[in-house]
Amino acid sequence: MRAETLRTPVYLVDEAALIHNLEILHGVEERTGCHILLAQKAFSMFRVYPLIAKYLSGATASGLYEARLAHEEFGKENHVFCPAYTDEEMAEICKICDHISFNSLRQLEHHRPVWEAAGVSVGLRVNPAHSTQEGHAIYDPCAPGSRLGILRSALGDSLPAGVEGLHFHTLCEQDSAPLVETFQAFEEKFGQFLHGLKWLNLGGGHHITREGYDLAALEKLILYIRDKYDVEVYLEPGEAIALNAGTLITTVMDVVENTMPILILDASAACHMPDVLEMPYRPPLLGAGMPGEKAVTCRLGARTCLAGDVIGDYSFDKQPEIGDRLVFGDMAIYSMVKNNTFNGMPLPDITLRHPDGSCEIVRQFGYEDFKGRLS
Ligand SMILES: Cc1ncc(COP(=O)(O)O)c(C=O)c1O
Repeated sequence: MRAETLRTPVYLVDEAALIHNLEILHGVEERTGCHILLAQKAFSMFRVYPLIAKYLSGATASGLYEARLAHEEFGKENHVFCPAYTDEEMAEICKICDHISFNSLRQLEHHRPVWEAAGVSVGLRVNPAHSTQEGHAIYDPCAPGSRLGILRSALGDSLPAGVEGLHFHTLCEQDSAPLVETFQAFEEKFGQFLHGLKWLNLGGGHHITREGYDLAALEKLILYIRDKYDVEVYLEPGEAIALNAGTLITTVMDVVENTMPILILDASAACHMPDVLEMPYRPPLLGAGMPGEKAVTCRLGARTCLAGDVIGDYSFDKQPEIGDRLVFGDMAIYSMVKNNTFNGMPLPDITLRHPDGSCEIVRQFGYEDFKGRLS
């Protein structure tokens, strides 16, 4: 099947682009001895877990369900971090995960009998209290008042018995310089605990597969940590694994006019690419320009009732017509994992383009998927 014949809306993940990213990430593992995990919160297309598992050390989860998915479909190292686990979840998690990070000393102690008996490697997520992001406070776990990570002031002179690792996650779509800076802040506050530990997890937010990312600085830092503290170093990027490795293809269903032509699409920002509204950001659109850059500027909106369900204003050489297909870029990450059926909107199909150009329909959704989440 060719991409042009897929029904829309559809997420089309590109296997060759995925492999390109995985090769870069595997290179970092090979040159530094670190372990890279897939953060499933960004990309949980388990059809390609066996492919990802050929290159990476394992997966990490935000809770029981993602952990179970990795256990069933990934089959390598299985890590989990959640700010709070129920007793039932902890019992399950201890059967399927090899690394568990806790967000508080209370959670660590509450679940101690279970994780101790299971022999799982446990760690604490700490907060280096060093912000390196501007403009996206929602993605800054070091912002004042953050609930994520234990502050240095909450720890004494030594870590509780049984703790084998530390974890911090502070970055979002960043290069290695903010990581180096954050590590220095972390080291100053928590470095004394590292000697004698087994592992340090540097979280996600590393845009390793982005063009121009400073790989050498990342690798130098990992080697420094391994050398000085003799710990295994983990990175758990999500975005970097499937960055620019997928599109969302949509069809123009109608054109209305209000100060400019407004294209009504079968894709929705609110339902199919929520980060466009949440982050917010303007997704790249193949062949289109910034408003005013090309001959015709159009607004792109969804067929939901939400007035603000607008993807953005884009310019074109020629105004798109009803039935034309538009292709949004970088839609593998934080898209299918966050989509929803608000307004009873159909979910986009999930498809995969193989390196030979042929497309495979991995999953199609329908009315039952909408009804099945309701009662
Ligand atoms: C604890 C943790 N690890 C990893 C990630 C993955 O981050 P990214 O997809 O930005 O690489 C996140 C993202 O929120 C996170 O909270």
